[in-house]
Amino acid sequence: MTPAQSKKQGHDLKSYLQAKVPNVIGLIREIEGLRKDGSAVPLDISLVEFSIDGANYFTGIVRDVSLRKHQEQQEKEHLEELAHVARLCLIGEMGSGIAHEVNQPLTAIANYSQACLRFIGAKNLDLEELGGILFKIHQQALKAGQIIHRMKDFVSPKKMYRIDTDINTLIEDAVSLSATDFKQNNISLELDLAKNLPDINIDNVQIEQVILNLIRNSIDALMDLPQKSQRQMLIQTHMKNLKQIEVKVNDNGSGIDEAQKEKILTPFFTTKPSGMGMGLSISRSIIEAHEGDLSFSSNPEEGTTFYFTLPVKRKIK
Ligand SMILES: Nc1ncnc2c1ncn2[C@@H]1O[C@H](COP(=O)(O)OP(=O)(O)O)[C@@H](O)[C@H]1O
Ligand SMILES: [Mg+2]
Repeated sequence: MTPAQSKKQGHDLKSYLQAKVPNVIGLIREIEGLRKDGSAVPLDISLVEFSIDGANYFTGIVRDVSLRKHQEQQEKEHLEELAHVARLCLIGEMGSGIAHEVNQPLTAIANYSQACLRFIGAKNLDLEELGGILFKIHQQALKAGQIIHRMKDFVSPKKMYRIDTDINTLIEDAVSLSATDFKQNNISLELDLAKNLPDINIDNVQIEQVILNLIRNSIDALMDLPQKSQRQMLIQTHMKNLKQIEVKVNDNGSGIDEAQKEKILTPFFTTKPSGMGMGLSISRSIIEAHEGDLSFSSNPEEGTTFYFTLPVKRKIK
């Protein structure tokens, strides 16, 4: 135990003796100790109280947990790698789309520069006009650069960000972001969120993105229904088993054809005139990087349900 920590333990014990609040006794806490050679070692410490002849005694049990820490670190690195691989797979699949995107500014550059060459050859060279075209070339080159840059950001292995999050609050946040869409499109939303769910350790921004994607897709599917029909959406959370929370987003919208079921999770598949077809494939790769699963069931008559699971982690105090 470092001097500061042993002082803190002493302080905790003192406040325990005064208040008799069981904030120290019986709990396992993690502290950092020092080995003889001066290197740090993670320790679990638990205190037990007993009394003999009216006097209080405390026994501390200290356990070296460096092996567990090491395994946790390895697990974390492994997950980061997995997330990286998931992104790489997605990039692979996105290849044709990116080529298409970069090709547009490149074609424009080729056309504009050809025009410049023709201009230079002309008798009365209009410098102003030439400058205008060169400016357009410059802009298109910047655009191509931005596309590449965005991809580079996406592929490079980022440090995983995880924070303890209440999934129900996250869903309520996503719902309130979509409130106007619900209202404008006459959609009635029901939330059936299980109480007392444990917090989950997730990238809250990414998971909110997944929820928003699913809500958006349901809204789109509901908008295909005739005006007068009841448009309904239901979002549920529950413990699927001891280890996983499940989130369901259900709508009574147009449903998904048998023929399309195989394709909807692949990048760039869309049935919408201005769709990107990326929402579901990105959502799935986010959920898989969180060690969960994303799936769906759909019936053209009844609508669609998307489900995803997220693991509940062992709490480390
Ligand atoms: N809730 C839903 N109901 C019906 N079809 C859906 C639903 N969610 C997704 N789809 C189908 O899956 C396709 C792919 O969805 P997505 O990857 O989010 O891309 P996008 O929304 O840009 O089309 C959609 O175009 C649609 O055909
Ligand atoms: Mg979508």
